Amino acid sequence: MKNLLIPAIIASLSFGSVIENYLTDLKNEVIKEKPNFKSFDIKRGEEIFTSKHIGKKGKEISCSSCHGVDLTKSHENFFTAKVIEPLSPNTNKKRLTQKKEIDKWLKRNFNDVYNREGTPKEKGDVLSFIMSK
Ligand code: HEC
Repeated sequence: MKNLLIPAIIASLSFGSVIENYLTDLKNEVIKEKPNFKSFDIKRGEEIFTSKHIGKKGKEISCSSCHGVDLTKSHENFFTAKVIEPLSPNTNKKRLTQKKEIDKWLKRNFNDVYNREGTPKEKGDVLSFIMSK
């Protein structure tokens, strides 16, 4: 038994990046509700990212209000005007590499724009969109 356990642990550590595992967890959440769910939808993610809503502070904003339309470029925070580095993980290698950061900011940012937390499906769609950039 011991001999089998160690390779299994090594495999589980080296398999998949943080974001791949994150998306798999979200997918498993969605499947609980919709057993025949297949995959996240980049187009839907784009809509979630770019559409405007009356946010937490009563102003009409979208994710793009802080992260811009071109995710390979940095952009100013809508409220504080502080520079936010590019969100695209293809341009910015630090993006989507820490589960804690992804959790924290998705929760906060969905609240900023939608006044509620994102659903697992919405989070998966929007992350798939961000990763495609
Ligand atoms: C009011 C400004 C603001 C809005 C609106 C906003 N964000 Fe953010 N977002 C930030 C800030 C600030 C950070 C943290 C600083 C940083 O990572 O550069 C951040 C970080 C993130 C991260 C963390 C990425 C990582 O791993 O480093 C993700 C993912 C993200 N935002 C997605 C979204 C999505 C999706 C929306 C729309 C639902 C959104 N953001 C709307 C300001 C905003």
